[in-house]
Amino acid sequence: MSRLLDAKKEKEDEGSELSLRPQRLSEYIGQNELKKNLRVFIGAAKKREEPLDHVLLYGPPGLGKTTLAYVIANEMGGKVKTINGPSVEKTGDLAAILSELEPGDILFIDEIHRLPRVVEEVLYGAMEDFSLSFMVNTDGTSKALTLPLPPFTLVGATTRSGDLSSPLRARFGISAKIDFYPPKDLQEIVVRTSKVLEMPISADAAKRIAERSRGTPRIANRIFRRVRDFATFAEKSEIDVETTDQALEALKIDSLGLDDVDIKYLSTIIDRFHGGPVGLETIASAIGEEIQNLEDVYEPYLLMIGMINRTPRGRVATEKAYKHLKKSHQGSLF
Ligand code: ADE
Repeated sequence: MSRLLDAKKEKEDEGSELSLRPQRLSEYIGQNELKKNLRVFIGAAKKREEPLDHVLLYGPPGLGKTTLAYVIANEMGGKVKTINGPSVEKTGDLAAILSELEPGDILFIDEIHRLPRVVEEVLYGAMEDFSLSFMVNTDGTSKALTLPLPPFTLVGATTRSGDLSSPLRARFGISAKIDFYPPKDLQEIVVRTSKVLEMPISADAAKRIAERSRGTPRIANRIFRRVRDFATFAEKSEIDVETTDQALEALKIDSLGLDDVDIKYLSTIIDRFHGGPVGLETIASAIGEEIQNLEDVYEPYLLMIGMINRTPRGRVATEKAYKHLKKSHQGSLF
């Protein structure tokens, strides 16, 4: 089965996800503190008729960083130009993108921590004083050329804020962490999705999906679509708890929303390394997953729900992990 819970796989959802995305701050569910602050910053920038300060959004994938970039653009009345950090290979690529911006536009750079360093350095001037500086070679001599840019707002998104260089980080006036959503917010998001997609859902069924979505709207919406398939197939006009449970069972999503990678990760620590501590590299090679995928996608949620701890000597499975996997400490060193 394809990875229902691979929070990183955004592309395949994109078409259908777009219509589900809230357009305005008032429609955006959850992240209340962030929304409250953004309302002030956006309102003040509009009153001053200035672009919003550059915004850095960081947090695990699937929590709505791209959605928020579009919401900010709508609130500011500008257009969005989206690029992906690793796809901008040369300074010329960035210069071309920057020179096409119009006043008030939002430049959204996803995975900004993966911008090549030379490209990042061109961005400094663009962010700081809306100018583009580069070297040109004519007749064997090189000259520095500076071009003015329209005032714009850079919205950068990253899953790893620690990987951002300090000079880049320092150029963001607004820096916001996007947190996992509590089940109550996810339930609201599922109900909203059911309205957008015109398939009613009972409150209890929405709650069930919310509880198994690892705090992540993208996963909640993806599960919702699969549950809707089960309801449509059974010719039900509303998604009820029974259909939801049947679908969750068929999709092998456990009571906490853990998938086969989470389970392999946890049982490897417990069964092969006596509960840890064990290094992430060792776990990754034992279960055949990429280190970065484990670190960015899987571990943040396992840490949040208290299944693992990070120690200087490696990862440790907690008592809660033993209980959830119904494992005993037999054979453990502790
Ligand atoms: N769809 C995905 N994320 C959402 C959010 N935070 N609010 C409303 N709808 C959403």
